[in-house]
Amino acid sequence: MAGKIRPVRGMNDILPDQTRAWQYLEDRARRILETYGYREIRFPHLEHLELFARSIGEDTDIVEKEMYTFADSGGEVLALRPEGTAGCVRAAISAGLFRGGGAHRLYYLGPMFRHERPQKGRYRQFHQVGVEAFGPPGPDLDVEQILMAQRLLQDLGVPGLTLHLNSLGQPEDRRAYRGELIAYLEERRGRLCDTCRDRIQRSPLRVLDCKVASCQEAVASAPVITDYLGEASRAHFERVQALLQEAGIRFVHDPKLVRGLDYYTDTVYEWTSDHLGAQDTVVAGGRYDGLVAELGGPATPAAGFALGIERLLALMDSAQIPTEGLDAFVAPLDERAQSVALELSETLRDEGLSAWYHSGGGSLKSQLKKADRLGAAVAVLLGDQELAEGTVTVRDLVQGEQEAVPRDRAPQAVADRLG
Ligand code: HAM
Repeated sequence: MAGKIRPVRGMNDILPDQTRAWQYLEDRARRILETYGYREIRFPHLEHLELFARSIGEDTDIVEKEMYTFADSGGEVLALRPEGTAGCVRAAISAGLFRGGGAHRLYYLGPMFRHERPQKGRYRQFHQVGVEAFGPPGPDLDVEQILMAQRLLQDLGVPGLTLHLNSLGQPEDRRAYRGELIAYLEERRGRLCDTCRDRIQRSPLRVLDCKVASCQEAVASAPVITDYLGEASRAHFERVQALLQEAGIRFVHDPKLVRGLDYYTDTVYEWTSDHLGAQDTVVAGGRYDGLVAELGGPATPAAGFALGIERLLALMDSAQIPTEGLDAFVAPLDERAQSVALELSETLRDEGLSAWYHSGGGSLKSQLKKADRLGAAVAVLLGDQELAEGTVTVRDLVQGEQEAVPRDRAPQAVADRLG
């Protein structure tokens, strides 16, 4: 026998028993996002590597070591998308959506790919629901997106949430801050882990995010970005906080929240849940006013967030997921009954009912067992006697009762049994 082919590490199959929960979540997400005026956009899973290098940043973990990249047979260097913002902006620019300055509110659902070390809640193929809004520069848009994420999380019954909020200011604020932070970190170089020592000059803000205890101690009294914000960014951040308070949304200002992608400006946030393990961020996002221009579009303010579907599913209240059901199990008891049974199954489907046409014969007992395993509510049986009399036997698998009904009344009899 040939050897089994293993799945790729960190990539999961989503099996039929799980897809109902996925579909439910996706359906709820679509509905809620659309009530805020967001419309779906779909863009390729593959893009030019350069798109991600220019948007997420050359010195980020994602671009440096987590992307799946390859040269195709034409020599083009491509990458599987590690996130959705870059591709969404690229698609909008390619389509000329920003011409005329129209406001666009877009959402997407789908797989993203990062070559990280797999663990619970962290996969190499994972899925996001993402939203991006283009146009308005105001803090009220940031807050509306936070309200939208909160509505989604609450709708799905996610427990134990905390909203962490920060501002990363404008690039010039960050440049001034960066110099101070590098000086502070250089003085403590010896107390940092190897990765963070490497990061001091290239990506000093990421040191603030390190989970290693000695690094966390070393940065405990590091200068914070919010002390370096320019006037406009300071006002923006204050307004975001005031609007959140007025909306009754609790948050924690976390001055060390820096995010792992370079495109952010001003508002950034992450929602964590204390019901998850180490990978506890469910939703993350913020404003990125410079990205559209950076990717060759007209200067257009923007903000968005993405939600990790696997993490959300782990937290979701599964009681609200509708149970699977099959209306009718249609069984021809011998070959002569097949054509009538096929036709009857089609008629049931014409009526909007689900019907499992049983192929493969077997005893009546084994067929009823199968109907039960499939969760069918009703079995429709067709044997010699039924054929001769022009009837079918409709058996209620919940009540255990059965009756013979004329063939043309079968759909109604099934529907009656289903209540
Ligand atoms: P991100 O923080 O890289 O942001 O990812 C957003 C969410 O995706 C995370 O909070 C987490 O729930 C989920 N996630 C990320 N990596 C993994 C993984 N390896 N396995 C499972 N889940 C994961 C972004 O991607 C930005 N594009 C968000 C954004 C949109 N900002 C503005 N617009």
